[in-house]
Amino acid sequence: MIKAIISAVTGYVPEEVLSNQDLERIMDTSNEWITTRTGIKERRIMPSDKAVTYIGTRIVQDLLKKSNTNPEEIDMVICATCSGDFIMPDSANSICYQSGLTEAFGFDLNAACSGFLFALHTASQFIRSGTYQKVIVIGAEKMSAYMNYEDRTTSILFGDGGGGVILEASTDSIYGIVDAVLKGDGSGYRYLNIRGGGSLHPLTEESFAAKEHYLYQDGKRIFKRAIRGMYEAIDEVMKRNQLENDDVDWIVPHQANDRILSSVAEHLNYPYEKVMNNIAKFGNTSAGTIPLCLWEYEDQLKKGDGLMLTAFGGGFTWGALFLRWAY
Ligand code: ACO
Repeated sequence: MIKAIISAVTGYVPEEVLSNQDLERIMDTSNEWITTRTGIKERRIMPSDKAVTYIGTRIVQDLLKKSNTNPEEIDMVICATCSGDFIMPDSANSICYQSGLTEAFGFDLNAACSGFLFALHTASQFIRSGTYQKVIVIGAEKMSAYMNYEDRTTSILFGDGGGGVILEASTDSIYGIVDAVLKGDGSGYRYLNIRGGGSLHPLTEESFAAKEHYLYQDGKRIFKRAIRGMYEAIDEVMKRNQLENDDVDWIVPHQANDRILSSVAEHLNYPYEKVMNNIAKFGNTSAGTIPLCLWEYEDQLKKGDGLMLTAFGGGFTWGALFLRWAY
């Protein structure tokens, strides 16, 4: 049986740091409030002339170099993003072009903060079916483009950056993606959205004045749904695969709020120190958070480790995916 294994991982964040202290200077907030309510201390911000294609291209170039892979070997690129350079065309094809992937095609996948999880599972199906051998899966965002820095409850959370993996075919039955549960509830669109600029609310003077081009969220409602969504999805994957907590060496969660992460661990009776966490440095980079975690924790991972990836985001979308680390 063919399985999809992760054979390389990398991440990219821009240099500019936006710290809580910087935010204190532009809005009515405090480092103390942001740290205690979210765990975030700083986030990264892309320059105005660069966006998701730039992040994705840097990620592909580094993955190829790190893994000694020729560009022609890559069959497909999926870029999980909700903040692509343009509404059309997608960013994935520009990334293929700019990084010289002459044999690959690409497409963007928008499942907001769950994007990387959805893209990884999608890519693994192409590999399991024998259709493709090597696929790059990216999660990359420029969320700062949609932040209203007059909205202190939302803008303090988000940052820019992302990461990616090479997913490839393996006939070794032990390693790779084992199972995933993906879920959706479209009624959630009311509580987390960017309305302006889409076909229902094209950018007009009115929509601009109504600030519809900014990300809106009902944070309190999402907070509770995110906790429940993540632990229920993990529980479902664990039951379906007869897994116990000891079989999961790491939980790799979407980084939305430190209190969400600790609550998910608590519900599962899972040790919090085994929950990957880099929210203090990068905040919520939407589809970027999970690969950024894998990148940062790569040195601590051992061949055969059981990793439970989980996310919750706009849509609503959520899920969990279990894999065994392959190197
Ligand atoms: N600084 C200081 N005070 C603040 C700030 C701030 N930055 N933001 C809010 N406050 C105040 C509020 O005005 C309120 O004051 P009041 O009691 O006088 O009215 C008080 O703090 C509490 O506000 P809450 O909104 O109740 O704060 P809460 O503890 O719920 O935290 C937060 C808000 C951080 C948004 C939290 O609800 C959260 O993390 N939600 C989940 C976000 C998320 O997961 N998003 C989904 C992913 S995004 C995607 O898919 C693209």
